[in-house]
Amino acid sequence: MITRMRSVAVLGVMSILTLGATAAVAATSDERLAQQLGQQLKQEDVAREEAILAERVRLLQIIKQVESDTTERANAIAEGADRSLLCASCHGRDGNSKQPDTPNLASQQPAYLLEQLQLFATGQRKNFVMQSLASNFNTTDKVNLAIYYSSMPVQPVPFDAKLAARGKGTYDTICFMCHGTNGKGEEGFARIAGQKPEYVIKSLQRYRANALGKSDPEEVKRTNPRMEQVTQNLSDEDIRALANYIASLR
Ligand code: HEC
Ligand code: HEC
Repeated sequence: MITRMRSVAVLGVMSILTLGATAAVAATSDERLAQQLGQQLKQEDVAREEAILAERVRLLQIIKQVESDTTERANAIAEGADRSLLCASCHGRDGNSKQPDTPNLASQQPAYLLEQLQLFATGQRKNFVMQSLASNFNTTDKVNLAIYYSSMPVQPVPFDAKLAARGKGTYDTICFMCHGTNGKGEEGFARIAGQKPEYVIKSLQRYRANALGKSDPEEVKRTNPRMEQVTQNLSDEDIRALANYIASLR
């Protein structure tokens, strides 16, 4: 329910942005970005968005139920730690990943982790290794892994301070609405604070490629209506600046 309310709040902010934006021609690229997000989603994307939100509410309830019981939470962490041996070579034993294009899982929002594992399991998000692993887990395994990684601290990653300063403007115009001013996410929205810049760049470029219909069919696809909407007008430079700002968030 809370996710739903938050999404309504976001839509409210977006329509305010559109009203403001129609009054004058958008002067800066950040204003153009805000204008873009204010636009209606395409009809087919509205239905997709609804389905994503409904599923997220369901996943949040599962996580909250386990987390509300101290013993159940401790068991989930212990079981998840055990399972995480399969993940350690890429994501690190503690969820701080070893490779630049592999995401940190440490301190990630547990409902987001669970959501992404489901997307891999059903093939809606594509990655060969992740799809094979996720499709072999039952819901309990996935919940345990999600709660385990969310309980681990995330280690600071290096970033370029100049680029980070440039990315802050764009971040504070639009990205904060769903990922939070500090990038920590909440209620199933992804935490992006401290995420590996290379991974963030690749992710944003993929959403943008889908939005512009330029996805290489051979390329590993990742799709989400909102992220496609907010990335379609970003330049490569905007994306690099944003990734460095996101990496700088603690
Ligand atoms: C061979 C390396 C490898 C192994 C092993 C691996 N992963 Fe991944 N994982 C990746 C890569 C690479 C991505 C990013 C895929 C992409 O770019 O979309 C990823 C993405 C994810 C994501 C999405 C994170 C996000 O921020 O969106 C989750 C969750 C995840 N992995 C969980 C796991 C779990 C749990 C295991 C162990 C059961 C595991 N992974 C094992 C390489 C691996
Ligand atoms: C209207 C809400 C919304 C806004 C605004 C938004 N995001 Fe997102 N973001 C999402 C959702 C939902 C996802 C998960 C999408 C998926 O399942 O692939 C996501 C995913 C991401 C990811 C991938 C995280 C991961 O671990 O793989 C990154 C990076 C990201 N967003 C960055 C941004 C940036 C940068 C901006 C501003 C330009 C932004 N987002 C604005 C909702 C939003």
